[in-house]
Amino acid sequence: MRLFKPALTALSAAILMASTAVMADPITIKFSHVVAENTPKGQMGKKFQELVAERLGDQVAVELYPSSQLYGDDKVLEAMLLGDVQLAAPSLSKFQKYTDQLQVFDLPFLFKDIEAVERFQSSETGQSLLTALEPKGLVGLGYLHNGMKQLSASSPLTVPDDADGKKFRIMTSDVLEAQFDALDAVSLKKPFSEVFILLQTKAIDGQENTYSNIYSQKFFEVQPYITESNHGVLDYMVVSSARFWNGLPEEVRGEVKSALDEAIAYGNELSQAKNLEAKQAIIDSGQSEIITLDDAQRQQWVDAMKPVWGEFADDIGQDIIDAAQDANR
Ligand code: SIN
Repeated sequence: MRLFKPALTALSAAILMASTAVMADPITIKFSHVVAENTPKGQMGKKFQELVAERLGDQVAVELYPSSQLYGDDKVLEAMLLGDVQLAAPSLSKFQKYTDQLQVFDLPFLFKDIEAVERFQSSETGQSLLTALEPKGLVGLGYLHNGMKQLSASSPLTVPDDADGKKFRIMTSDVLEAQFDALDAVSLKKPFSEVFILLQTKAIDGQENTYSNIYSQKFFEVQPYITESNHGVLDYMVVSSARFWNGLPEEVRGEVKSALDEAIAYGNELSQAKNLEAKQAIIDSGQSEIITLDDAQRQQWVDAMKPVWGEFADDIGQDIIDAAQDANR
């Protein structure tokens, strides 16, 4: 059959359209977070990007935006609901606007160590909390560890009275506010990206964070004392918006989820080492003294902070608090 020129032109246009459809732009997953790349969350993000590139390179592209480059944690969830970001992993302390239940993770001296946190997160109750954000249009895809929090300050904090009247930066959590109220200290809810400058200019006296964050954000350079209190946990929930997540083609969603699970496991495995490495680097710097508490001193901090539990039991749910406590055994 002979084709005339107009027919040939129509045929090439059809072929072009078909190949353009096949080579459609990949789905973009923007992962916005606030910490440095060399942290458990930063490394988890890089691993996720690599795995997705290996397995879904032509269909899905992961873009990483660390160090609050795109959004701070207080804005990222709003941006996600508007479709501007597809993945985030805010600290569990930053979800209070969306659910009260996750505040369980902020209760002081609830978990004896990160292994207990892991047991709780893997338990039936812990897993059910991944759905706590669904009514707000967010999907919890997994927990990621950073580690246990320490207190840093411009003067030594050995007993709770040492914190009396001092100003501390906290994440956006009423439990954390109550924890510092219990010490007769002043707390300020401020974004992570502002903490260094607040400490450097002495607008605040201290803050609470993991060694990994204290090191990677250089807080130790402007905080001469770090009390190894392990009084709370700083972990993350990896989240996406239900609209984006459920809108992914089923096969793609399955592959993305398995890449994410592997990346989270990788970040979790790395987290303890990252904190130990950071602690050693702080010691080696000689810029900040690490204060270890003896049993009697530690008990004073427990006695001062633990009454906070009672204030939040109704909001969080006593059953959830009990399940978290069980994970210590
Ligand atoms: C983070 O680790 O993502 C930030 C923690 C903080 O805001 O202190």
